[in-house]
Amino acid sequence: MSRIKLHDKEFETFIPYAQINQSVKKMALQISNDLKNEDVLFICILNGSFMFTAELFKEIELEQAEVTFMRLSSYDGTDTTGQVKKLIGLNEPINGRVLVVLEDIIDTGTTIVEVMKLLKEHQPKAVKIATLLLKPEKFKNKMPVDYVGMEIGNDFIVGFGLDYDQKGRNLKDIYKIIE
Ligand code: IMP
Ligand code: MG
Repeated sequence: MSRIKLHDKEFETFIPYAQINQSVKKMALQISNDLKNEDVLFICILNGSFMFTAELFKEIELEQAEVTFMRLSSYDGTDTTGQVKKLIGLNEPINGRVLVVLEDIIDTGTTIVEVMKLLKEHQPKAVKIATLLLKPEKFKNKMPVDYVGMEIGNDFIVGFGLDYDQKGRNLKDIYKIIE
């Protein structure tokens, strides 16, 4: 068990890389089997999902698979409506294609609900959601999630792309906050 400090908070090892890797490989295999013969566009939701996307995408066994990137951010500060705004849109055609949205973590689900709304405006053939982590308590099944790597509790975590105020994304393992 190792401890680290980022800004003012301390964190301890929670999910070791070996376990993350196993979970990502399993998901990649499932997706590859389910979407055989489809024209699939993977959509990485930046910034948090960049590491998950890289690790998953190299395990995908679909000859025609493509990957692209979309950036959203929550309005922070005083806005409590939980709205998200699109920062970087997509240039790739979406119409008639199978999309797989890659999220690092689904917490309240605000981000994924907004992403789905934006994508569905462009008439894709199907949109699948794949998230490395899910915090089921706050999400309360707002919409079906097709692929879930691991379910976790409500603790704040960092590592493997996830940050605490931009720090900690480089950590190979996932760490949990020490309250
Ligand atoms: P949601 O919109 O509430 O589902 O939250 C989605 C985004 O909040 C995720 O894509 C993450 O970027 C961030 N987030 C949620 N929980 C955590 C956490 O425990 N650590 C770091 N970032 C988190
Ligand atoms: Mg994210």
